[in-house]
Amino acid sequence: MPKELIEKIREKAGDAPVSIGLILGSGLGRLANDVEGVRIPYSELPGFPHSGVSGHSAELVIGDLHGVRVAIFSGREHYYENGRADAMRIPLEVLAGLGATALLATNASGSFRSDIPPGDLMILSDHINFSGLNPLIGEASDSRFVNMTEAYDPDIRMQIEAAAKETGIDIKSGVYAWYSGPSFETPAEIRMLKMLGSDVVGMSTVPEVILGRFFGLRCAAVSVVTNMAAGLSDENISHEHTKESAPIGAAKLAKIIEVLLPQLKL
Ligand code: HPA
Repeated sequence: MPKELIEKIREKAGDAPVSIGLILGSGLGRLANDVEGVRIPYSELPGFPHSGVSGHSAELVIGDLHGVRVAIFSGREHYYENGRADAMRIPLEVLAGLGATALLATNASGSFRSDIPPGDLMILSDHINFSGLNPLIGEASDSRFVNMTEAYDPDIRMQIEAAAKETGIDIKSGVYAWYSGPSFETPAEIRMLKMLGSDVVGMSTVPEVILGRFFGLRCAAVSVVTNMAAGLSDENISHEHTKESAPIGAAKLAKIIEVLLPQLKL
């Protein structure tokens, strides 16, 4: 299946290899507007997600972004939509098949660090898979035993930090905890997650990074903090709020990506 898909995509987008794939999270879709290239609705790509989450679009965008050939997944499928932790498996296999060597995932998250307030960005230095799920369950080959020691590529992380510094945008690093959702966490869960060494919580990215590593991609991820996590502020936590708040961080992320891509060394 991925072979046919890759051919189909190449027919539309051309044969030139893609350098890096980007996954855009809730409210971050506008980053795809800057790409000059082709847009292929997921509905034309068998095996691609049919995301039904408002605030997410559902198309693959391939083309030039600040001088780099990218594949943008504008919209992802989350575990909470269908109970499939491997929902992004085919898209990521296709990404590797299109020649990409790296993946940059983005997400929205709730923070438990007062120095990473809503509107701020956090580079993932690591994650805690608090769901107990794994997209590689059922994979038969020994390649399923993926080494996750440096799952978030230290060199790409440094390049993101340097790009942020150049733009003057403050960016911190920290640990992302994956909670399955779709309900938000309770205040007690947030206290626990904090005690266990994470800094923000969200409902995505972790299965994608596991799959990315499985397919040999160098992975990085940036979280856009949309709210303080449950119990940490008087603000009401809701998906509406996530969608409203994400563009603040997304605008910062767009600026960092504009500086990062032309000088990205993979
Ligand atoms: N929890 C989980 N996922 C999220 C949150 C949150 O508080 N905010 C945005 N995505």
